Amino acid sequence: MILDFTRLRPRDAYGWMASTITPRPIAWVSTVSGDGRTNLAPFSFFQGVTSNPPTLMFVPVNTRDGSKKDTVRNIEAVPEFVVNLVSFELAEQMNASAAMLPYGESEFERFGVPAAPSERVRPPRVAAAPVAFECTLDRIVHLGEGPLAANVIFGRIQCAHVRDEVLGADGKVDPAKLDLIGRLGGESYVRTRERFDLKRPE
Ligand SMILES: Cc1cc2nc3c(=O)[nH]c(=O)nc-3n(C[C@H](O)[C@H](O)[C@H](O)COP(=O)(O)O)c2cc1C
Repeated sequence: MILDFTRLRPRDAYGWMASTITPRPIAWVSTVSGDGRTNLAPFSFFQGVTSNPPTLMFVPVNTRDGSKKDTVRNIEAVPEFVVNLVSFELAEQMNASAAMLPYGESEFERFGVPAAPSERVRPPRVAAAPVAFECTLDRIVHLGEGPLAANVIFGRIQCAHVRDEVLGADGKVDPAKLDLIGRLGGESYVRTRERFDLKRPE
């Protein structure tokens, strides 16, 4: 079959993209509002971009009524955020935090997610996250208009917290100990437990 994306409705295009571009890592993003109230939400349109300068991106799309999600409103007010990575152990809390709470109500408090202070940015981080990247806003690129239009958020990584437990004897990250989850389509996820290595060509 061939899908004509120029004719698909945005929701259907999203369904095909989300169920085929998989597995996706999950950025569990903490932000604060102008008056200091915390927010926490997951985003799987997420990637590292470059290490020179150290940069990552994630994409909160507009809601169905075309308005910006709380994460975007907060970053526009306070241009700093933390991208927390999600281990299997944190999956249920991460999923709960995707609930659409009224602006200003904290998912940290509502879902009992322990927070820890950050070093270089105002939003707190998720204390139990295996890795947390503290970022300052580089830029927001707006793509499209209205419902599901993208706010591509580029973050400059200032520092990262890496839990000692995820390191192997060689001091490097052990993927099995990291135990991150990835998102598939719909409500499905994968664990990063089945691994294979490939020697890179010269
Ligand atoms: C695993 C997972 C991944 C998600 N990825 C995205 C995403 O990439 N972009 C997006 O706009 N919403 C995504 N969502 C939905 C948001 O988390 C949800 O709309 C949330 O309420 C936004 O919170 P906020 O309004 O506090 O920013 C995802 C939800 C889950 C559970």
